[in-house]
Amino acid sequence: MKLGSFLLKGGRVVDPVNGLDGTRDVLIDGGVIKAVGADLPVGAAQVVDVSGLLVTPGLVDMHVHLREPGQEHKETIATGTASAVAGGFTAVACMPNTDPVNDQASVTQFMLKRAAEAGLARVYPIGAVTLGSKGEHLAEIADLKAAGCVAISDDGKPVLTALLMRRALEYTAMCGMPVIDHCEDPTLKGDGVAHEGFNASRLGLKGIPGEAEELWIERDITLAGLTGGRFHVAHLSTRGSLRAVRVGKARGINVTCEVAPHHFVLTDEALEGYDTNVKMNPPLREAADRDEMLRGIVDGSVDAIATDHAPHHADEKRVEFDRAPFGIVGLETCVPLCFDRLVHTGLITLTRFVELLSVNPARILGVAGGALTPGAAADISILAPDLGVTIDAAKLVSKSKNTPFGGWSLKGGVAATIVGGRVVYANPDVPRARAFTPVSVA
Ligand code: DOR
Ligand code: ZN
Repeated sequence: MKLGSFLLKGGRVVDPVNGLDGTRDVLIDGGVIKAVGADLPVGAAQVVDVSGLLVTPGLVDMHVHLREPGQEHKETIATGTASAVAGGFTAVACMPNTDPVNDQASVTQFMLKRAAEAGLARVYPIGAVTLGSKGEHLAEIADLKAAGCVAISDDGKPVLTALLMRRALEYTAMCGMPVIDHCEDPTLKGDGVAHEGFNASRLGLKGIPGEAEELWIERDITLAGLTGGRFHVAHLSTRGSLRAVRVGKARGINVTCEVAPHHFVLTDEALEGYDTNVKMNPPLREAADRDEMLRGIVDGSVDAIATDHAPHHADEKRVEFDRAPFGIVGLETCVPLCFDRLVHTGLITLTRFVELLSVNPARILGVAGGALTPGAAADISILAPDLGVTIDAAKLVSKSKNTPFGGWSLKGGVAATIVGGRVVYANPDVPRARAFTPVSVA
């Protein structure tokens, strides 16, 4: 397919890596960024007026569950990447808790093949730390890297022993990948289903204390110090955890962390009503934790926002709270929540927004992207900061609809998503985006 030549005209370009926040044109040709500048000559390019819109390096969600292979009734790589581009993401990193687990090169290669067939968002597989994520034997980490994995994690579960975590950090330090840990002491978590505190007690739900997360983060920071390896905290959720990360960073340890939108927007008060769409792991915490997530996002101690997009079928969620699986979908609600709760409240600048959703996740994973540099692949998110968006769960592109944000009205959305110079999503609700003709998807 011939890649088009576009001139994105008059948008507000926010590109922190190149020190840019201002009205610029962006010329895309042959799949790459040709030029970024004021009043670029049109030449043969198709001009698309993007005035009033925001043009940013492609957003990268470093924590999603695409469920393929094995749980295609929840999501597939095709439906998950369709959800990603509708949410403004040009790339996603997918967790290995598929069936089979992504603990060997053949699984990684299968995922990459499916992603290429879908032709929507880029997919960066994350390999398992241990075989079957069982916490017994290390996976062949160098093989996983050679097959295309960008990090390793046993997400859904913690890396079970300190010795395995130590070895994982040592091996990945040699091949330049981070270890992403789902930090939770399984014995303290027990069969808890909600944050241990006033609300869980009042509702008769078994608790998961914040300390289950904090202890594990302290362990992993200590091991990152021992090994010099790179440790990334998945879905950090408590104020004690953030304190531990800040102390680790101050000591010069290679630790980074991500926070999911639900952890800076919601609290465990949402448990009232026992909606299984507020059940996720880690659970919604207290207001003081939510407020600290916001502080960390503002002051830089939180490195990335990642959704932990965890699709589950309606039949699996339509059960008693205790029996429902953990997780909510997040790809299509992230940008509206970030605009509404972080940007329009004045908490963060657009530069910081782009750092959290593009620059830093790309840097942590060591993948291309995060900047609109001439010569780079044209992975671009075009966002509509003032668009009124009402979340309609039934209309989500994801195969699963398990969101707690159904019916919410938020300010800020996605206009169009461009991957490798191809328009893979254009929002029909944004008049200017109608000038784009998205590629047809089977
Ligand atoms: O809520 C969650 N869902 N947390 C996890 O750690 C795993 C994920 C899933 O795979 O459903
Ligand atoms: Zn996860």
